[in-house]
Amino acid sequence: METINWKNEFSVGVKEMDEQHKKLLGMINRLIEEQHTLTDPRTIADLLTEMTDYAQVHFRAEEFLMAEYGYEQISVQEKQHQAFIDKTISFYSATDIGPNVLSVALLDYLGTWLVGHILQEDMKYKDFFKSKELR
Ligand SMILES: [Fe+2]
Repeated sequence: METINWKNEFSVGVKEMDEQHKKLLGMINRLIEEQHTLTDPRTIADLLTEMTDYAQVHFRAEEFLMAEYGYEQISVQEKQHQAFIDKTISFYSATDIGPNVLSVALLDYLGTWLVGHILQEDMKYKDFFKSKELR
């Protein structure tokens, strides 16, 4: 997995959401970048926990806006967000201390999921929030 560069086409038109997506992408990129130098299981577990915690903060903020503005596909979003958290946790909670290595499968999953979710699911709310004049 290579690090992922932010592209304009990732923009969902809502500044706060773009900023949060960028921050989350940055956290995933750091794991990708340091995959060969991170060897301490505790450090790996901490970074994954930090990323997962931030993903939760972002998902709650996104779902809050959807609920606030009456976005109809909120339940699809909630399910996908939860699946991401569950899957990520299952990758690193196999042992008490966390994984000994950052697996290629995990890094692939994180990067592919985020980009895919933004482009396929989040992009669907772009016009909706635009019509509500949310920027
Ligand atoms: Fe989302």
